[in-house]
Amino acid sequence: AREVDEKVQQIQSLANAADAIDSCRRCPLYEQATQAVFGEGPKEAQIMFVGEQPGDQEDLQGRPFVGPAGQVFDEAIKNAGIDRRRLYVTNAVKHFKFIPRGKRRIHQKPNAGEIQACRFWLNLEREFVKPRIVVALGATAAQSLVGKAVSISSMRGKPIDLEDGSVLYITNHPSYLLRIPDPETKAREREKFEADLALIHAHI
Ligand code: URA
Repeated sequence: AREVDEKVQQIQSLANAADAIDSCRRCPLYEQATQAVFGEGPKEAQIMFVGEQPGDQEDLQGRPFVGPAGQVFDEAIKNAGIDRRRLYVTNAVKHFKFIPRGKRRIHQKPNAGEIQACRFWLNLEREFVKPRIVVALGATAAQSLVGKAVSISSMRGKPIDLEDGSVLYITNHPSYLLRIPDPETKAREREKFEADLALIHAHI
């Protein structure tokens, strides 16, 4: 534990934080996960997107939003005219939480304690990147950034001033779109998601 503390005390940059995170023991999620998944993107990024936590693919590859939700995300930002290479993309919780079921690993929502424990890392990312705009993808990210549970439907499209001077936009998580069975509802929700992203793009 002392080695871990020393690494954390020596964090002076985004690269130091990325290096220290794999030794994080702030909550028990590290026990099951393959690795911690830190955020990714230029440290000068003006926009930071915050998801929930790594999924199965992200846990294996060590990069955020590279699995099915990442594909939805990539497509939606492209349609909104946003270039992913200019974004800093991260998650509220850095370890994958799941229950094993046969060969599959079933995603579990992180709880309030896990979200709170991992705010340490998200706060470091915000301090080092200093984005002008922060986008919460879904309820977990919104909870981490606002400090309490918020409803997406009532908050989307209403920017919130955060204490560090950045502006927070709240929208749905791309996985939400993947879970909608009805094609018409799915198409409508996809349009709403892309409209939220286009609004954000207009504010860059
Ligand atoms: N879902 C998330 O919230 N984040 C990822 O990185 C992947 C899926």
